[in-house]
Amino acid sequence: MKKILITGGAGFIGSHVVRLFVTKYPNYQIINLDKLTYAGNLNNLKDIEKKSNYTFVKGDITDAGFINELFNLHTFDGVVHLAAESHVDRSISNPLEFVMTNVIGTVNLLNAAKTSWLTPSPLGRAGEGAHRFYHVSTDEVYGTLGETGMFTETTAYDPHSPYSASKASSDHFVRAYHDTYGLNAVISNCSNNYGSHHFPEKLIPLSIHNIKNNKAIPIYGKGENVRDWLWVEDHARAIDTIYHQAKTGTTYNIGGHNEWTNIDLIQVLCKIMDKKLNREEGESAKLITFVKDRAGHDLRYAIDSSKLQKELGWVPSLQFEEGLEKTVDWYLENEEWLNNVTSGDYLKYYEQQYTKR
Ligand code: NAD
Ligand code: TYD
Repeated sequence: MKKILITGGAGFIGSHVVRLFVTKYPNYQIINLDKLTYAGNLNNLKDIEKKSNYTFVKGDITDAGFINELFNLHTFDGVVHLAAESHVDRSISNPLEFVMTNVIGTVNLLNAAKTSWLTPSPLGRAGEGAHRFYHVSTDEVYGTLGETGMFTETTAYDPHSPYSASKASSDHFVRAYHDTYGLNAVISNCSNNYGSHHFPEKLIPLSIHNIKNNKAIPIYGKGENVRDWLWVEDHARAIDTIYHQAKTGTTYNIGGHNEWTNIDLIQVLCKIMDKKLNREEGESAKLITFVKDRAGHDLRYAIDSSKLQKELGWVPSLQFEEGLEKTVDWYLENEEWLNNVTSGDYLKYYEQQYTKR
């Protein structure tokens, strides 16, 4: 039986990856390591938590002693690393937390993997290790595009926010451990995800939450920034494909070929919400409120995922409007989940954010 460590499995994307691995591979033992920060929620995994091939461990990847002990206790066959601080706005207010989790936390895992997997020959040649370290990263490491062009796997790194700088740094460390110590590492850089269990601080779930509660939908600047949206379950499938099929040392971009300006996306979302909430057409769009722009706001992201499609045969499965409607349905049917995550510190954080703008 293979033992796989998935970090950040109680978060948005991590919970979809854990669910996919636990259900698709009953012969794998999946260990979900998560600190349960504000973004981590064990309710995200209620449907699979009793499966015999699933174990949850609460812990912090910035704690090197704890991580080393965990690797001593279990003989992991692989790691799928998703744990991170993931919100650009929070990284602007608190960059150091992003350095700690995203950079130091990643290096702690790399060190533990190197010690556990490559000893007694820690200077083994690149590509020799049999155990896989999969690092889940973002397209934001490439910086911003103008009106044309797309990010490919060879686009130079040019991060602008503390979040993207911390992810870029962690990607460099993963490559360094591959090139220097022969760690069997792969990286993927994915575009913006959407779907169920997404914490309502990011554009789509925040807007659904606010529309439902008749609150302002804050659109930064003029809403002209472009993002390339991918259904989260398609990302999870891509991770499964890359984890099992990619050659060591490779990188794949993952994206949906699905670019939207923020304002066009929110207009479509408002129409869906009007229909679902039996409101008159145009009612929800009245909540759109243009607010002060995000500092250093990247204009456009667009991913060329043709390498992944050609080499490993992955293709996105859902059209955006269909995925968006499914997402809205999930939030409306899971009011308890939304009430739960928006209680406590959530409101305090957002009230502070809005008065700052
Ligand atoms: P998320 O914020 O929803 O979840 C992050 C998870 O990591 C949470 O469960 C949190 O509790 C856990 N975590 C945070 N700090 C930790 C620590 N010190 N130790 C252990 N666990 C810790 O994030 P997400 O949106 O699911 O993103 C997951 C990964 O995918 C991240 O690495 C992110 O950079 C990457 N990514 C996200 C997107 C996106 O659109 N959300 C796109 C591309 C890549
Ligand atoms: P977000 O969901 O935070 O993801 P990222 O910054 O990683 O792309 O933001 C998506 C886009 O939406 C981005 O251009 C910023 C914008 N945005 C708003 O206009 N209003 C909001 O309240 C939020 C959270 C984001």
